[in-house]
Amino acid sequence: MAIYKWEEIKETMITPGYSITKGKSIIGNMLLLQRVEFDEGVAHCQGRADGNIGAAFHYHPEEQIFIILKGTMKARFGGSVKDVGSETTHINLDEAAVPISPGEWQSASPGEVCRIPAYTLHEVYWENRYGLAYSLKSRIPGHSWYDQSWQPGAKDAWEKHFENFRIMNDKFKETVPWDKVYLNNGGIVKWDAIEESMITPGYSIARGKSMYGNMLLLQRVEFSDDVSCIRPDGKAGANFHYHPEEQMFIIVEGTMNVRFGSAVNSVGAETTHFDLNKIQGPVAETEWLSAGHGSVIHIPAYTLHEACIDKYLLVYSAKTRIPGHSWYDESWQPEAQNAWSKHFENFTAMNERFKETLPL
Ligand SMILES: [Fe+2]
Ligand SMILES: [Fe+2]
Repeated sequence: MAIYKWEEIKETMITPGYSITKGKSIIGNMLLLQRVEFDEGVAHCQGRADGNIGAAFHYHPEEQIFIILKGTMKARFGGSVKDVGSETTHINLDEAAVPISPGEWQSASPGEVCRIPAYTLHEVYWENRYGLAYSLKSRIPGHSWYDQSWQPGAKDAWEKHFENFRIMNDKFKETVPWDKVYLNNGGIVKWDAIEESMITPGYSIARGKSMYGNMLLLQRVEFSDDVSCIRPDGKAGANFHYHPEEQMFIIVEGTMNVRFGSAVNSVGAETTHFDLNKIQGPVAETEWLSAGHGSVIHIPAYTLHEACIDKYLLVYSAKTRIPGHSWYDESWQPEAQNAWSKHFENFTAMNERFKETLPL
């Protein structure tokens, strides 16, 4: 658990093999968040053959979501890499062993979101030769997001792990307030087209819009003190709670005050949210910490936390998506909780075994 400030994070190249992006990285466990910038200044590294500012045709085993901050991003997709059988992570379209016919170019503007499924071919460039975005990726133990290298054994381990995720995904469908924002294919999403709902009404006043892919869930969330409040102290926000999802809050506007507790298994709570005064066992709390624009709050899976706002808060909330677990009412489909516990244990074991090579 931590609060990060972008201004304090060192800049590096992000994926120099196929893109001119430079940026800053916040590395979680299952989540990786990067603030990426594309401009003329980094011409020494490999970019696009046509001289545009962006990334050449490529894929990665990570799922990816771009939130556009400045500039207009053009993206097009080329299907799953399995159909092409490429040996490298980036591909010259004219030299591909199997012909690739990329779809139409799509455009994403500030506030809009572009989702790229794992193992899906894509290329991007920026109109007017400049772009700034958040890039959210699923993190893979032993796979370098920097140079795409794998630690020995990591690739096989991940492929098995990902296959298991796919099986869970086919088996379990969680109950959420709508179903039309699943994005199984790559594409651009406009928040305007998404309906608003409560986000986690059991313990929070947050309202917002949700879009999700496969391993990633992204929500654009608003807290304001005109929504009737359920915190015992009467402040607007979220009660002490935990969730099996890892979470990153990217603060857009306003201030979020947070307090962290320990991992939930040291407390033994039966419910996902509770009154601190009534809980058995010690809850190791931090002081209240404040995060404003330019900050990111990282909350590990199964970790207790609470939040309150001053007046109004706008954030992007990135979470891991869990097949069969509802981010809305915290319910589990039958057997989904067991399946996820095993899956998460396997992730933790991979994490201890494999350490990827990164520029940080
Ligand atoms: Fe990418
Ligand atoms: Fe939370």
